[in-house]
Amino acid sequence: MANNRVIIFDTTLRDGEQSPGVSLNMEEKLQIGRQLEKLGVDVLEAGFPVASQGDFEGVKRLADELRGLQVCALARASKNDIDVAWNAIKGGENPRIHTFIATSDIHLKYKLRKDRDEVLEIARDAVAYAASLTPNVEFSAEDASRSDLNYLCKVFEAVIDAGATTVNFPDTVGYAIPWDFAEMIRYVMENTPNIHKAVLSVHCHNDLGLATANVLSAINKGARQVECTINGIGERAGNTAMEEVVMALKTRHDLLPFETGIDTRQIIATSRMVSMLTGMAVQPNKAIVGANAFAHESGIHQDGVLKERTTYEIMDPKDVGLEQGRLVLGKHSGRHALRAKLEELGYSLSEKELDKVFNRFKALADKKKEVYPEDLVAIVAEELLRIPDRFKLKYLHVAGGRGIRPTATVAVEIDGEEFSGVSMGAGPIDAAFKAVANLVKTKSRLLKFNVSSITGGTDAQGEVTVRLEENDHVVTGQGADPDIITASVKAYLNALNRLEYLKHNAPKAVAQPMCE
Ligand code: KIV
Ligand code: ZN
Repeated sequence: MANNRVIIFDTTLRDGEQSPGVSLNMEEKLQIGRQLEKLGVDVLEAGFPVASQGDFEGVKRLADELRGLQVCALARASKNDIDVAWNAIKGGENPRIHTFIATSDIHLKYKLRKDRDEVLEIARDAVAYAASLTPNVEFSAEDASRSDLNYLCKVFEAVIDAGATTVNFPDTVGYAIPWDFAEMIRYVMENTPNIHKAVLSVHCHNDLGLATANVLSAINKGARQVECTINGIGERAGNTAMEEVVMALKTRHDLLPFETGIDTRQIIATSRMVSMLTGMAVQPNKAIVGANAFAHESGIHQDGVLKERTTYEIMDPKDVGLEQGRLVLGKHSGRHALRAKLEELGYSLSEKELDKVFNRFKALADKKKEVYPEDLVAIVAEELLRIPDRFKLKYLHVAGGRGIRPTATVAVEIDGEEFSGVSMGAGPIDAAFKAVANLVKTKSRLLKFNVSSITGGTDAQGEVTVRLEENDHVVTGQGADPDIITASVKAYLNALNRLEYLKHNAPKAVAQPMCE
């Protein structure tokens, strides 16, 4: 690989899925995986197979199906984790085992309760074992940015000798500052004698909002793999946003003369899919993929852009897939146009799946003049990617208005049998939620309720996100409909169905650490 090529390692389905409230089902993981393949990522970290049967099966499906990229599985530095990870990915093309252990004194003392020599030996043994299964092994030194750098270089040297072909330097807690981080990367490049035999990778969390800046400063000093997620989702404040790094490299090629294999025109479609399926909304002012990222509000700016786009635009919206994606469909659009649009958005559907989406599309186009890509993403998510629902909405009627006590009548199918009930509430949504809660007898607690408009106009579909908590499980549900009360009830039921799913497929508690 040319020395200016930066490997894009996507961890949306692993670190991204660790975002609070996000839990993707198998179909959703597959759709995102296929879209990441189309986007052109080099390595796709598909999950942490030892964490649960669901994780194992998701990783296995992705490894068996995706081609043209390396599917990677995470494993702690233990034989059992590595065996489970390998069993999940071994059907893949050039599959990668990613094993890790912390190297900072603070983690050694309080979490691992081991000394530096012991940890070095565990890391070396884990990598040697992984390398006996596949030549493609990555080692991560968790909390590297707070580790003693001399010790870290010794660990990297030992694991490269044991067979690691990628060594990853995570800023696990998002503590690094760009110029200091650059200095650390330079130090590791110069003081790990066999570093030329491996690729140095970085993995930055965004706790101080510096993840992208840190990654760019590391690339400048020799890092050639970036671990990132779509929309920057991930633990706490998230990970480095892939779209930011890729577009920074493209836009400032004068200062950052590096290449990636990413087809940037797929960025918006991927971002929308990830946001819809994870329920993690993208903030409007988010760089590259936010709704306002290419919007010009001030008259002076609008005038400038109309005269010459580059006066106020440093990137061409087409380069991230924006304009091609704006083409709308209407009630006269046929199956052919719908299929073409869905393919552009990253969804390849069977005839049967297309039938379902087409029916919903027609129903929506009857109510709404223009159907936008965002509307289609919402329909696909609802029609095709949902986990098998235990609770289904059959009927909803709400009465409200000035001087009337809001009342909702709801019928829900539960395990194939229909139940109905009436409730009053502070408003129509409150009334409908109370009626649903009584019918399904939930003990869950509402953590978040958010309504937004998918596109502009009063006929736009409302998109609702509901976050619920029950017995330490946090889930996010979504629903979309031109009627916001229906959208809200759909989102509520989607979250309740996810809780049901988790009751039967809950991840095992993964105790940290497990070293054998
Ligand atoms: O943030 C982190 O340190 C990680 C490692 C497992 C790479 O996610
Ligand atoms: Zn991480």
